[in-house]
Amino acid sequence: MKRIAIFASGSGSNAQKIIEHFSDDGDIEISLILTNNEKAYVLERATDAGVPSYVFDRELLYNSSKVHDILIEIGIDFIVLAGFLWLVPLDILRSWPNRIVNIHPALLPKFGGKGMYGDKVHKAVIEAGEKNTGISIHYVNEKYDEGEIIFQKSFEISKDDTPETVAERIHVLEHKHFPLVIEKLVKDLQ
Ligand code: GRF
Repeated sequence: MKRIAIFASGSGSNAQKIIEHFSDDGDIEISLILTNNEKAYVLERATDAGVPSYVFDRELLYNSSKVHDILIEIGIDFIVLAGFLWLVPLDILRSWPNRIVNIHPALLPKFGGKGMYGDKVHKAVIEAGEKNTGISIHYVNEKYDEGEIIFQKSFEISKDDTPETVAERIHVLEHKHFPLVIEKLVKDLQ
């Protein structure tokens, strides 16, 4: 069995789609949901799906090895960031090299970096007059949104699109592709 941990800070609609995707998979399991936000709706989704969850704060993540050690104890093989807003600490990056991925709601390398999340991304894309936007799935390193890009899917922005409609269209793409990309990466693990 390959075990996946998902980090999320907010709603967790992607986390839910990933949980659903692997619910009948005999080889891959979502073993833990982790969040820095005790009010995050992803916690309810985890409870409803029967997936254990863990809440941490800055101190636990950056000044202790607690989060790292929990992931080791559970035997996590692969880590997914799905709407997780903090950087991953070095101890975790070192223990899961090329085994941590993030999804970003724009076509990286543009419109990424610190502070580029949620509707801010879509507003920036529209204000820049971009013709297309889309999703990027990439490996995670010590910087925001800079790891190697694994997968992108784009669509054309129409003149009627707003940050809200772009966010909806992005979510449709994310929900469709993210579970499948994760499945392929995890199946290919040695
Ligand atoms: C997604 O759009 C993802 O690209 C970004 O944060 C959003 C999370 O949405 N990193 P949800 O919490 O999965 O609904």
